[in-house]
Amino acid sequence: MSEWSAGYMAEIDYTYGYYAELNPARAKLALLQAGLHAPEVAHACELGFGQGVSVNIHAATGGTQWAGTDFNPAHACFAQELAQFAGHGADLQEQAFEAFCQRSDLPDFDFIGMHGIWSWVSDANRAILVDFLARKLKPGGVLYVSYNTQPGWAAMAPMRELLALHAQTMSAPGAGVLSRVNNALSFAQQLLDAKPVYALLNSGVADRIKTLQTQDRNYLAHEYFNDHWQPMGFSSMARWLGGAKLQWACSAHYIDSLDAINLTAEQSALLAAIPDVNFRQSVGDFCVNRQFRKDYWVKGVRELGAAERLQRWRRQGFVLVKLREEIDLELTGRQARMNCNAALYAPLLEQLADHEVHTGEQLEQALQPHGIPFDELRHMLWMLCVIDAVHPAQEAGVTEQARACADRLNACLLERASDASAVSCLASPVTGGGVGITPFQQLFLRARQSGMTQAAEWGQHAWRTLQALGQCVVKDGEALRDPAANLAELQSQAEDFAARVLPMLRALRVAP
Ligand SMILES: C[S@@+](CC[C@H](N)C(=O)[O-])C[C@H]1O[C@@H](n2cnc3c(N)ncnc32)[C@H](O)[C@@H]1O
Repeated sequence: MSEWSAGYMAEIDYTYGYYAELNPARAKLALLQAGLHAPEVAHACELGFGQGVSVNIHAATGGTQWAGTDFNPAHACFAQELAQFAGHGADLQEQAFEAFCQRSDLPDFDFIGMHGIWSWVSDANRAILVDFLARKLKPGGVLYVSYNTQPGWAAMAPMRELLALHAQTMSAPGAGVLSRVNNALSFAQQLLDAKPVYALLNSGVADRIKTLQTQDRNYLAHEYFNDHWQPMGFSSMARWLGGAKLQWACSAHYIDSLDAINLTAEQSALLAAIPDVNFRQSVGDFCVNRQFRKDYWVKGVRELGAAERLQRWRRQGFVLVKLREEIDLELTGRQARMNCNAALYAPLLEQLADHEVHTGEQLEQALQPHGIPFDELRHMLWMLCVIDAVHPAQEAGVTEQARACADRLNACLLERASDASAVSCLASPVTGGGVGITPFQQLFLRARQSGMTQAAEWGQHAWRTLQALGQCVVKDGEALRDPAANLAELQSQAEDFAARVLPMLRALRVAP
């Protein structure tokens, strides 16, 4: 273990993920849906930003000044490099929480986010984070925090301990973390093959180990092999954060708002009879056997009046971030599936199909001939956000101001499109966040960025890139061996990209 890492996994770098929950614009909509006030976010902070993909996308696309830290120098270096290219001026440091949180030159924050931190640090670090929230999160400010919770980890927790123990005691000290992870997983399988009573009584564990075998080893090292690993029940979390005067506001996982597909009628009735907000959350976690929570907490929760709530929905802009023909109106909850009525949603999707920003009010007016009451429209917009087809949009002025920065960041991300550090989204100054994009689409955009104007050339560029990496296209589960077939397939995908996807990416200001 490195001395500076305080038991945190530092031998191997973390993944290059983007986490939309850290987008203040997305938090604002979740709070509005919950009927709560959200602050204007001028200053935001991400604690433990990992490779810094999220913080860079948010700093490059919103009107927010970001600060943040991650004590892993490789992570901080990558994040700083992106920040320098983008030129958004975020203050991204390589300090441990202990040092960063004591800085006297930081502003007070309207939004603080920590994704994948809380469960993997020591109690001493948790105390530092809570003290920081108490001092530096403004009244009315929002915290986004995700963490492993109970009772969902009850069965697997002893197995995770055994995996970590195996890595500490059974692998040679110089073996390297990947080899320790692989050895521990093999041992877990050996143990399961010996049919221990533990596995017979906890039947889900064998499946979990199977799933782990298929997962990214860098992710597994950070998730399972830290010295500190503490799933925490909601009530304990509420006690910790209560120390910073934070109150739970709503889930950051939009689909959690839909009781009809997550709970049985009996469970809903049981929860409805519980007046205490926190106890209700704890019981809800038992109903769904939750193992990971993503929540927004607010320092001083305030309810919006009914009129103000409606006014905010009318003023809010929305934008379609998926191709209309690819939108699946089915939602899968913990208990049930539901289909949104396609005929009912058709006129709304028609309005949104240009991928431009439409406010609630504009949509209300446009849909008047269809007799859709505003309350229903509001619900439909929320459902489209839940399925991630629609994102809340920022004010036009913020978008315009952020365009140059977002362009620079995207150009820099596209340069990495075929590297290990490739990301799966690009920055949209319209939404203030990331928009999903496939590896091939990134290669097409990169070709376009380098001056190629024809889709056929983009296909050629993609094929040259794949060839250099010794890779080929996989179509319908089959690897294409013939170079001509690869080129033809990539050129056909590039044509389709130019015709259907590029206009959307341009509307979202992801592509110039
Ligand atoms: C599981 S990763 C999550 C990274 C990022 N939030 C994400 O979700 O992609 C946890 C991160 O916290 C950082 N970290 C852990 N303990 C820390 C500490 N005491 N001070 C600063 N950073 C820390 C690690 O270096 C790592 O990058």
